[in-house]
Amino acid sequence: MSCGCGSVSKPALTGIVLTLTLYCLHVFALKSHLLTRHGGGLGTAAKDAVIKYKTLYFDQKIDHFGFLEDGTFKQRYLVNEEHWLQGGGAILFYTGNEGDVTWFCNNTGFMWDIAEELGAMLVFAEHRYYGESLPFGKDSYSDPKHLNYLTSEQALADFAVLIKELKQTVPGAQNSPVIAIGGSYGGMLSAWMRMKYPNIVVGALAASAPIWQFPDMVPCGDFYKIVTQDFSRSGLNCDANIKKSWKAIDNITATDDGLQWLTKGLQFVFPPEEDRRGGLQPLPRWPIQVVCKHIGFNPSTVSDHQLLVGISEAVGVYYNYTGNTPCLNTSSTATGNLGFIGWYYQACTEMVMPMCTDGIQDMFEPQEWNFKAFSDECQALFGVRPRANWAETVYGGLDIHSHSNIVFSNGALDPWSGGGVTRNISDTVVAIVIPDGAHHLDLRFNNEYDPHSVLSARAQEVEFFKLWIKQAKKKL
Ligand SMILES: *[C@@H]1O[C@H](CO)[C@@H](O)[C@H](O)[C@H]1NC(C)=O
Ligand SMILES: *[C@@H]1O[C@H](CO)[C@@H](O)[C@H](O)[C@H]1NC(C)=O
Ligand SMILES: *[C@@H]1O[C@H](CO)[C@@H](O)[C@H](O)[C@H]1NC(C)=O
Ligand SMILES: *[C@@H]1O[C@H](CO)[C@@H](O)[C@H](O)[C@H]1NC(C)=O
Ligand SMILES: *[C@@H]1O[C@H](CO)[C@@H](O)[C@H](O)[C@H]1NC(C)=O
Repeated sequence: MSCGCGSVSKPALTGIVLTLTLYCLHVFALKSHLLTRHGGGLGTAAKDAVIKYKTLYFDQKIDHFGFLEDGTFKQRYLVNEEHWLQGGGAILFYTGNEGDVTWFCNNTGFMWDIAEELGAMLVFAEHRYYGESLPFGKDSYSDPKHLNYLTSEQALADFAVLIKELKQTVPGAQNSPVIAIGGSYGGMLSAWMRMKYPNIVVGALAASAPIWQFPDMVPCGDFYKIVTQDFSRSGLNCDANIKKSWKAIDNITATDDGLQWLTKGLQFVFPPEEDRRGGLQPLPRWPIQVVCKHIGFNPSTVSDHQLLVGISEAVGVYYNYTGNTPCLNTSSTATGNLGFIGWYYQACTEMVMPMCTDGIQDMFEPQEWNFKAFSDECQALFGVRPRANWAETVYGGLDIHSHSNIVFSNGALDPWSGGGVTRNISDTVVAIVIPDGAHHLDLRFNNEYDPHSVLSARAQEVEFFKLWIKQAKKKL
């Protein structure tokens, strides 16, 4: 999907509006923290003072599971030893997800906040094929052959080999218990890390990790149902007006005049300055409120024109919130460093996450989950077809009770919680639900605006870490 500038045809325009809005919501859901990252008790300067790391590289095998390809690549990882109690202090190991690892490092304030209390070393490992950790340099994405080693299993093996290496080579690290920590896909990786390599990590915190967002595990409509609930509670008539906007787009794009008006509107209608700044201020915690402010119309009297002006302002909150977006560009995010192509490839192979809408329980146009169409798209894009049930086979699906020492945390406001573990599985596979929490809010820096529920979740997580560390020391 391209940018909204220049001349556009009607179907393209409808697509743009639809994608923009959906994408916007999706991005809000997935990356709501992008918008809140400026907020908080700690100013940028204070955070910069806290965040100091060494950037290191490890020669990692390109293929852990076969023996023909014997090449290596440089995997990037970041280390902070400032508070580490050498000779046994724990290692908090961030299992990097789909993007530049420095971004996850800088935004996982929780680890920086607790390092001193735990006497812990912090390690942030980059996921292969993202950031600087490219197995084939600039050719890594060039064709299916080069992409072939982009899998979660290879990434987990990278983490396992790297941890073994650190324990062997860093003086005093031999007996350091390692705890895996991650958020979102990184949280799925941290949970799977504990499941697959219990000999290497003593426990895992999986924040907002939708390990059940795979075929036949949870209803495909849950994600957008939660999105709709979030909009519904974030402003008067917010969900009703978004629901109505689909028909308004149809109506307006039915005429050439309307089409032209919308094309112009999309480019030039943006929220006034003070509203945009509002998005950068510490409040609201939940940026959807800012979006909803632009569409608080009475749905029974609003005109199609009014509605779409509001919608495009609302979309602008996200796309132009930095104030320097030249035009609406759906192929980039605010940070521009999240590997969308890489993630799309992963979705097209192992990470098949069905989503659907029905227009009744949610505010979207009905759209069924169509695996065949998805698979064809993957074939056309990457020359590969997804394996719908592989994730369940390799990671256990709903059947995870035989594992131990995993905390799954979820914010009830986070649409991804629909595919997350939100009930206790056993005494040691535990769910923490944060009623006022958005997408892995618990991993962020402590912040004076944090709801009490997030503070208590973090405290509970630290207690689990201490318990796992104690258990590990007993075994020595
Ligand atoms: C993370 O923080 C470091 C140090 O402050 C900075 O150099 C780096 O650019 C930051 N990375 C991102 C993606 O913001
Ligand atoms: C779209 O056009 C129809 C027919 O003119 C009208 O009844 C309806 O109110 C318009 N707007 C929406 C959002 O349905
Ligand atoms: C985004 O905001 C800036 C600053 O207010 C403004 O100059 C620019 O025109 C806006 N972008 C668009 C596409 O309207
Ligand atoms: C949109 O963003 C993508 C990715 O950042 C970039 O490659 C592309 O050139 C941008 N398009 C326009 C028209 O700015
Ligand atoms: C799971 O158990 C823990 C205690 O270990 C408790 O604090 C938590 O509230 C329980 N979670 C759920 C979702 O009931």
